[in-house]
Amino acid sequence: MSEYPEGGPLRIEHRGTALVLTLDRPDRHNALSRQLIEQLGLAARVAASDRSVRAVILTGAGEKAFCAGADLKERQGLTKDQVREIVRLYRTEFGAIDRCSKPVIAALNGVALGGGLELALMADLRIAAPHAQIGLPETSLGIIPGAGGTQKLPRVIGEARAKEMILLGRRLSAEEALEWGLINRIAPKGVSVVDEALALVEPILKGAPIAQAAALEAIDAGLDTDLATGMQLEVLAYERTLVSEDRDEALRAFSEKRTPNYQGK
Ligand code: COA
Repeated sequence: MSEYPEGGPLRIEHRGTALVLTLDRPDRHNALSRQLIEQLGLAARVAASDRSVRAVILTGAGEKAFCAGADLKERQGLTKDQVREIVRLYRTEFGAIDRCSKPVIAALNGVALGGGLELALMADLRIAAPHAQIGLPETSLGIIPGAGGTQKLPRVIGEARAKEMILLGRRLSAEEALEWGLINRIAPKGVSVVDEALALVEPILKGAPIAQAAALEAIDAGLDTDLATGMQLEVLAYERTLVSEDRDEALRAFSEKRTPNYQGK
């Protein structure tokens, strides 16, 4: 697939029907350079329309870091306007991951700090290695999270815990992150976090792609609005599944006592 970005800091591999995107700057703990942010957004957009891809996995190269956030070395040489431009890029490029119609799983192979956690918050599911450390240290650096952290984190773990993480710069262990509902599971010791994410893709493959996309859209859009509007959004999303061929195939398969063969139509 030549439309995917090539030759930069983002490594792209097809593993079956999963697309594995690896942040590949281990000498900088996979920190987010401008090019890396751009490549992530482009890859998410291409994956959304790539019929061979059923799920996207985000991970980092090496075992130490998923991503240590903004590239603080690159940032030293930037003007304030250039930094504003990067903050704008977070909106558009991380936004493409956030809105991706395919399920996105963040496989946290090590520390996820600042923009690294914010990137993981764009995913639908999060898995962490037992040694992962997760935090938003921005206020200790004189700034605030600028890639959605102040908005997404409270929606996931609640206001009080989000404020504790952001104000105190508190770093969570994988165990604490699991307890707080920030991650879905911890990979067993000795099992690669990407393999654990791939295992999670298996049941996704058994489901109907249009239904999964509609469910994600209803959940995500509903979180941004009041309950009554959310209920209406659910009706619209349900309608898309009702007119899909896969919905009819599910009913046929049920009556014929066989596994449905979904086509994503
Ligand atoms: N941007 C650019 N380079 C980074 C980086 C970042 N965010 N985080 C780490 N690196 C670089 C280090 O400068 C170092 O490079 P060097 O060997 O050329 O000096 C290399 O990655 C390894 O980092 P080091 O600090 O030696 O590793 P560590 O295992 O002791 O600590 C961290 C790892 C991630 C805890 C620590 O590097 C850290 O706190 N980084 C900053 C994270 C942060 O505040 N992010 C939020 C930004 S808003």
